[in-house]
Amino acid sequence: APEGNTASTSGPSRRVLLFPLPYQGHINPMLQLAGLLSARGFAITVFHAVFNAPDPSRHPAYDFVPVPDGMSGGSTDMAVKVNVEHIFTVNSSCEAPFRESLAALLEAPGGRDNVACLVADAQLLTLMDVARQQGVPTLALRTGSAACFRNFTAYPMLCHKGYLPAQESQLDEPVAELPPYRVRDLMAIGRSHQEHELMRKLMSRAVEAVRTSSGFILNTFDALETDDLMATRRDVAVPVFDIGPLHKFSPAASSSLLQQDRGCLEWLDAQAPASVLYISFGSLASMRGAADLAESAWGIANSGQPFLWVLRSDLVSGVTQATLPDGFDAATRDRGMIVSWAPQEEVLEHAAVGGFWTHCGWNSTLESVCAGVPMLCRPCFGDQMGNARYIDHVWRAGIALDGELERGKLEAAIRRLMQSKEGQEMRERAQELRRKAAEAISDAGSSSRLNIDQLVNHILSL
Ligand code: UDX
Repeated sequence: APEGNTASTSGPSRRVLLFPLPYQGHINPMLQLAGLLSARGFAITVFHAVFNAPDPSRHPAYDFVPVPDGMSGGSTDMAVKVNVEHIFTVNSSCEAPFRESLAALLEAPGGRDNVACLVADAQLLTLMDVARQQGVPTLALRTGSAACFRNFTAYPMLCHKGYLPAQESQLDEPVAELPPYRVRDLMAIGRSHQEHELMRKLMSRAVEAVRTSSGFILNTFDALETDDLMATRRDVAVPVFDIGPLHKFSPAASSSLLQQDRGCLEWLDAQAPASVLYISFGSLASMRGAADLAESAWGIANSGQPFLWVLRSDLVSGVTQATLPDGFDAATRDRGMIVSWAPQEEVLEHAAVGGFWTHCGWNSTLESVCAGVPMLCRPCFGDQMGNARYIDHVWRAGIALDGELERGKLEAAIRRLMQSKEGQEMRERAQELRRKAAEAISDAGSSSRLNIDQLVNHILSL
């Protein structure tokens, strides 16, 4: 039932328009936000790229408006190479069709009066501009952490001071202006001038999207990122709403683009408490080659630990079907389960799961923190290195697995996480974070709930 202030006490509901960036890690929080706003009485329209389109039948209460993106011919192929350039393409390809669809919606009877605002992913500056040109106020949703966004605002300074583009010899240098990051934890995509310029443009556009918006929504909570949230408030000078963890408000994983294999939950039921290592690298991260996959497989097998492994077919870059080394099945019989996509939130909440080998995407990080599960961190790109730094160094709820992926090293790290006293202490700290997350959303006076109330009032005032 709706609670607190709502949008539909009199007359037709005010309508919130949403536009997610079309990747799993960005679609999930946006649709979780939709669930939250819908529970407060807002009508919801989701504009979305045709690429990675969400399934409208899973959300019968919302309107969905596909926006032709000119890229994919209706593809939902997760293997399409997602990179920084792709984000620019989404912006430019969707611009004209979005302008048309939005105009049509606003011109329909009652359209303009009912529309309260557009909430767009912070990476969609072009589409936010389109909305503002048509008189629709905008809010920016950033699906990463507050700490990560500080990377964005600090990027010009980081370049100016010579941290970026990073040289190999600098990687372990601390970034004095942005603790606890080291140079290797900063967001970057490469060392060439061209890559560097592309990243600079991506970040400055996201910062502009936030600063020119009427408010900034973050999927995090105060007790987790107190200082970084304070710094963010100072940096962006628009109202900041930290209203996470969003998946705790709209838990159903109904925005999954892939079919989740629920059979693994039954398998988990039969395992001892905190005994299973859950392994998943999210929707995009990949291994560099078959050798990395083989080292992973043998590290897992040799650890002797029960495991649930999400083995996406496109997990190894350049290979269509990831295959495990001969002998792996026999070595791990009855001890492990492999699925192609899991109901991750439920898996992490399962009492049998005692550790999570993760790529440290922000959603995975939050889901693990909220479930009190310590992590083995193997970041791959983007914000993941910075997230791993917080898990390992600030929250001390996990272990960073650095350097070459090598079976002996991995085996030792798994044992350390799952079986050692040190691992148990990490589990206790993760459990403490779980309690803080629960507090943040627990009742009317808690931090995230207060911020949601303020967000609702803010949207109604726009
Ligand atoms: C991407 C970036 O990689 C990440 O760093 C950024 O913060 C968000 O965008 P992704 O790599 O997919 O996201 O990782 P993550 O943020 O962890 O999101 C993955 C989502 O997929 C999670 O919500 C997780 O619950 C879900 N998932 C993952 C499943 O439903 N099933 C699975 O088997 C694995």
